[in-house]
Formats: sequence, structure tokens, C-alpha cells
Amino acid sequence: MSSDTDLKILAISGSLRAGSLNTALLRAIIDVAPEGMRFDMADIGSIPHYNADDGEPGGKPDVMRLVEQVRAADGVLIATPEYNYSIPGVLKNAIDWVSRAENQPFKAKPVGIVGASMGAIGTARAQYHLRQVFVFLDAYVMNRPEVFIGAAHTKFNDEGKLTDEATRDFLVTFLDSYAAWVRRG
Ligand SMILES: Cc1cc2nc3c(=O)[nH]c(=O)nc-3n(C[C@H](O)[C@H](O)[C@H](O)COP(=O)(O)O)c2cc1C
Repeated sequence: MSSDTDLKILAISGSLRAGSLNTALLRAIIDVAPEGMRFDMADIGSIPHYNADDGEPGGKPDVMRLVEQVRAADGVLIATPEYNYSIPGVLKNAIDWVSRAENQPFKAKPVGIVGASMGAIGTARAQYHLRQVFVFLDAYVMNRPEVFIGAAHTKFNDEGKLTDEATRDFLVTFLDSYAAWVRRG
């Protein structure tokens, strides 16, 4: 059941692969979300490579869909993988496209950042790069709690379902803060 007062959250996974731990993390967050939060999952897989010679986002339906989703959302929640100590190119490319739309859609947008990796520090380095990107875009990125899911392959099963109770509890805590952050706007 959803209502007009629900928080509309756009979830963006920075991984395109079907078995993505980061997409699984977003699904786990959606699973434990309280009443009053409504999630859409963005699809950034069909967004073309940014080339300034190709003109503005207006002529690109896949880009404009994401632009409108960001505009319509009360908050954006991004799960980023860590690639070579930074964020994946596909995620940066999507953000770069959106940033070229009129009235830069990320400006003053409440943003949450989470991430999962098999390593010990759970995408911390990538998340700090992503935070830096949003400084220029003047988004309102929530500071804490930070969500670094390390050894993520041991916390999700083969179907991408979260099996680790402590992580589930932590995601509930995270969502409390994130919902309050988005409501503060
Ligand atoms: C090109 C590439 C670079 C990677 N670099 C890192 C890295 O710097 N740090 C890390 O913890 N894992 C790294 N990994 C492993 C990813 O964290 C792992 O593949 C993870 O599952 C990717 O996220 P996903 O499951 O959401 O697709 C890298 C993987 C790829 C494909």
C-alpha cells in the first residue's frame, strides 16, 4: 500500500551484472524498509557513453528517464561497487549525463550511499570518491551511518538473498537515519 505522503526513493546500483552483490544489497534494504518508503530501481545499463559532441540529455530517452526519475525522487540511494579503488565507470557515466540536464537534478537532492564487496573494507574507497563527485553537484549526502558491507559473498546466498542477521539489523538502523535525512530534505 502506498500513499501520496510516502517517501519516493530512487535506488541506483552501480553494477550491471545479474548476480551483483550491490544490487542484492539494495534489494535487502528494500526488503526491510518501513511503511512509508517507496522504491524505484533505476536501470543505468542502457545509458550511452557521455560524449559532449552528442548534445544535451534531452535527445536521449534512456538518459531522460533517469533524469526524470532523479527529479521525481525525494531521495536517491546508490549502492556502488569498488573498481580499482574507485567507482565503476558506468555509474560515473550515468551521473555525468544526469548532471548535464537543466536545473542540475542532483542539486539539494538527499542522497544515501552504500556498498558491498568481497574484500574487508566494503567499498569505502569508492564511496569516498562518490561523495567527492556529489560535492560538486551540491547534493545532500548523508554522512552517517556509513554502510560498508565487507566479505559480502558470505552474507548473501546464491539467490542474492541477505542471510546475515547482523547486517539485516544494521540496514534497519541505516534506513531509520536515511528516512529522517530524506524527510529533512
Ligand atoms: C574491474 C574490477 C576492479 C575491482 N577492484 C576492486 C577494488 O578496488 N576493491 C575491491 O574491494 N574489490 C574490487 N573488485 C571486486 C569487486 O568488489 C567485486 O567484483 C564485487 O562483487 C563487484 O560488485 P557487484 O557484485 O555488485 O558486481 C573489482 C572488480 C572488478 C571487476
